[in-house]
Amino acid sequence: MASIPLKKKHLVQRSNFLAQWGMFFKQFVKHPGMIGSVIPSSASLVDAMLADVDWAHTRLFVEYGPGVGTFTQTILDRMHPDAILLAIDLNLDFVAFLEAQIDDPRLRVVHGSAADVRRFIREAGHRQADFILSGIPFSTLPAGVGEAICAETRSVLRPDGAFLVYQYSAYMRRLLSAQFEEIHERVEWRNIPPCRMFTATKREMLAQAA
Ligand SMILES: C[S@@+](CC[C@H](N)C(=O)[O-])C[C@H]1O[C@@H](n2cnc3c(N)ncnc32)[C@H](O)[C@@H]1O
Repeated sequence: MASIPLKKKHLVQRSNFLAQWGMFFKQFVKHPGMIGSVIPSSASLVDAMLADVDWAHTRLFVEYGPGVGTFTQTILDRMHPDAILLAIDLNLDFVAFLEAQIDDPRLRVVHGSAADVRRFIREAGHRQADFILSGIPFSTLPAGVGEAICAETRSVLRPDGAFLVYQYSAYMRRLLSAQFEEIHERVEWRNIPPCRMFTATKREMLAQAA
């Protein structure tokens, strides 16, 4: 197979990058509350968020708010060949953009709210998820929606499965504490702006004992 010359490959990568940023900014101007950020997440944040995922045993990974796919391709690159990535976004333009950009049979992109994750998982032929990653701006969601998403997320995670959330405000800790038994919080400074990263783990034994 003929390989793409290095200079041409760089031009293709650069035009993909510009297309992603252009699309992201356009959607932010149209729906600032739904998008919650002017630019996509940094590569450092993507790496830090995905560092502790148990890829070997993950068969269903769910991504809330993939946007232009900042995390999506890296998740696919690390995922097992038999695993499925279910990406849920409320913005139809992002759904169409992702479907046009990424051609991978393991990726299912659905249009809708993360609050309906249970139905989307069932429609994908699964019962529970191993990991769920969220890029949703929780602090700008309508009243009650963040609580509903966290409750549904916990109910569809397998025992010891984790909800991975990146957010710019500390508001998320309260939402997660109401549902999850174990929460770790860190900060990724190499992102604009610096970002809080939460790992909320479902510990079923502790919940039953309480
Ligand atoms: C800050 S952007 C994150 C995009 C990308 N993951 C990143 O990190 O660069 C937030 C995304 O969440 C989506 N979103 C907002 N509310 C949502 C909801 N209730 N369910 C699913 N997606 C939602 C928006 O459409 C947008 O794609």
